[in-house]
Amino acid sequence: MDFESYDVLVVGGGLAGIRAAIAAVEANPRVRVGMVSKVYPMRSHTVSAEGGAAAALGPGDSFETHAFDTIKGSDYLADQEVVEAFVREAPVEIIQMEHWGCPWSRNPDGTIAVRPFGGMTTWRTCFAADKTGFHMLHAVFQTSLKYPQITRHDEAFVTKLLVEDSRCVGVVALDIRSGRFDAITAKSVILATGGLGRVYAFTTNGNICTGDGMALAYRAGAGLKDMEMVQFHPTGLPFTGILITEAVRGEGGYLLNKDGERFLKRYVPNKMELGPRDIISRAMTTEFEEGRGFEGPHGKYMHLDVRHLGEKVIDRKLPFMRELGREFLGIDIVTDPIPVRPVQHYMMGGVDANISGETPILGLYAAGECANVGLNGGNRLGSNSLPECLVFGAAAGRAAAHYASSARPVTANPVDAMLWDEARRVEAEYLEKKGGDERIGPIREEMQREMDAGAGVFRTKEGLSRLVRNLGGLRERFEKVRIDDSSRTFNTEIIAALELDFMLEVASVIAFTALAREESRGAHARRDFPERDDEHFLKHTLAFHTNTLAPRLEYSDVHITTFKPQARSY
Ligand code: FUM
Repeated sequence: MDFESYDVLVVGGGLAGIRAAIAAVEANPRVRVGMVSKVYPMRSHTVSAEGGAAAALGPGDSFETHAFDTIKGSDYLADQEVVEAFVREAPVEIIQMEHWGCPWSRNPDGTIAVRPFGGMTTWRTCFAADKTGFHMLHAVFQTSLKYPQITRHDEAFVTKLLVEDSRCVGVVALDIRSGRFDAITAKSVILATGGLGRVYAFTTNGNICTGDGMALAYRAGAGLKDMEMVQFHPTGLPFTGILITEAVRGEGGYLLNKDGERFLKRYVPNKMELGPRDIISRAMTTEFEEGRGFEGPHGKYMHLDVRHLGEKVIDRKLPFMRELGREFLGIDIVTDPIPVRPVQHYMMGGVDANISGETPILGLYAAGECANVGLNGGNRLGSNSLPECLVFGAAAGRAAAHYASSARPVTANPVDAMLWDEARRVEAEYLEKKGGDERIGPIREEMQREMDAGAGVFRTKEGLSRLVRNLGGLRERFEKVRIDDSSRTFNTEIIAALELDFMLEVASVIAFTALAREESRGAHARRDFPERDDEHFLKHTLAFHTNTLAPRLEYSDVHITTFKPQARSY
């Protein structure tokens, strides 16, 4: 059987994936790169990033303070040499983006403007109004088009990693348009598939964020690191979960409870609205529980108030927020406060990878939100994610190209057999199975509700144990799922089933790892273990796939270089 074969194959067409592809061909122009994405690249979730990208560019800033802020923000679970490398590379990448055409907002003297963001001690978040991800993704996408070495496979869903003799040699992908299963082989594979927010009911993440890369790597034998660390952003719109950027607070917006009080004075008095996300989300949840939130048709909420900023500032710095208010709430944020509540936003955990994106599986790399290279620890600071995609996407691209240039070619024989097995598995499990009486939608919704209830802003042993049991029940029900659409072309029902399969997998890992971490650190807040416990848990959690729902857990040391763990207060 014929199949496409590359030196480097990137799975995912967002910022990290495209940056990796460009870095690979720039590292070695002879390298042929394939890029497979389940959506057209400009529909990747990067496009919805709003507030900005952090980099120590300004005269009053330093690598040391960016590193310290990131490490303190992580609640000391970040690997410090990774953070130190990241802060040095971030400005280089921001300037590179400028050269590739990203229209950064400017100071009057023409330099790149920065704004304040939560948990940062100084203004260091570069931005393109409040559509930063949209502009950055455009810049890398249009740049990628000039490289004939990069071949795209848009709208192809990867169902399995091909692993031969403990080496990753490609993927099996379902071409969504034709329904054909293809093997796409490569000497090295980079996972850059983004997050998993859709395992929760209430998330800023797009429908496509279903943890695919994490589940693929996990099933192939890689560890998933710190999966209990799930970030909740304080300001999502009730019901839709649409992100109201932290830049609203960076530009001076206030968070108010139903008594009109800036309640954060009780929780982060020195930072107020610019506290880190984990602490503000907990503060809001506590206020709700104590009866100081507004009640609405979609639950409790707070007010985010920018009226005092005035129309001119809002239109110049936050035009998209005004548009969102109009389109989704029927309000004008110039004259009306914005209703907001905490919402799942980002996954600190991910595929265990080192500073170059290498995973323990030979030839397999990971970058961006689907990876955990040790940057974010227990809580990512807002605006570190876009530069993370650039810095570690580029690092993975270079490393994968380097490895591919000396790796032996992939042979057809086992690949043929693996492709055949995988195509048969999917057909038998979904297309040909008759008689199941379960549907995708209800299982997905129940999983999302269970995750919100059991693995949300606050957690307990009781809630997590219930979650583990209920996810087990949902997995059993999923085995009986029925697919009505038997066509081959654009069978979105089968894609939804494959995504749900991945989501159930990663949701279980979140639940089990959260149950095992008996302390509170960063975004992982256990009501039954309210203190951070460095003696027992200054450690990364590593989860490995087993034949049961429960992963095998291991722990590894956190790398501390300069900044000794101390109490985290703001
Ligand atoms: O609020 C925001 O604009 C989100 C930024 C981020 O997650 O880095």
